[in-house]
Amino acid sequence: MTQATNRTIKLAPSILAADFSRLGAQVQEADRAGAERIHVDVMDGHFVPNISMGPLVLKAIRPLTKLPLEVHLMISEPDRYLEDFARAGADSLLVHYEGDFHLHRTIHAIKDLGKKSGVVINPATAACVIEEIVADVDLVLVMTVNPGFGGQKFIRNTLGKIGRVREMIDKMKPGCDLEVDGGIDTTSAPLAVKAGADVLVAGSSIFHDQRGVAAAMAALRATF
Ligand code: DX5
Ligand code: ZN
Repeated sequence: MTQATNRTIKLAPSILAADFSRLGAQVQEADRAGAERIHVDVMDGHFVPNISMGPLVLKAIRPLTKLPLEVHLMISEPDRYLEDFARAGADSLLVHYEGDFHLHRTIHAIKDLGKKSGVVINPATAACVIEEIVADVDLVLVMTVNPGFGGQKFIRNTLGKIGRVREMIDKMKPGCDLEVDGGIDTTSAPLAVKAGADVLVAGSSIFHDQRGVAAAMAALRATF
């Protein structure tokens, strides 16, 4: 963990960018390098155009690390799958505002499963839509790319929104995580932290770095 101003910044490596032929080893490399949690991107080819992984992959990596496994559900009708992901070993379940007509019900279903809950908003979604749910969640995730693919460019326009969500959290739910996801590298990480983020998801910049996972994570931490 790195202390930036008065906030503790956490890294959440996204295994979407890992080498899937040695996924377990990659999770353990991130763990040894001091990751605070592992980010698991679930895509259904419907809510987002891409298809990634499901509960079986989560179950396979569960015994390999004690780190919290954070599951980012980029799927339609997330309620149908909450129990499956909880049973497969998720510690927290993050659901999109945009994919859910009954977000309050979903968030409370996650709590009833004994898991931490998070709400996610896309780049074009305004910060104010989370106002009525922020008190109920453990995390707000501001997408800094359009969800669906790794390796995209950080959308700078989201920085103002990160600041607005920071203000809302400080006022309404101090202690709630403010996470950012998409295009986080050594250039964008300090901007996101300065804007108010305290958890950084990073896929490509950690797992595609030729120097290895530990060096990539150290390089990120050196920027804030
Ligand atoms: C995008 C996913 C991200 C993705 C980030 O839809 O939610 O978690 O893995 O990848 P990078 O860090 O490569 O942008
Ligand atoms: Zn994600």
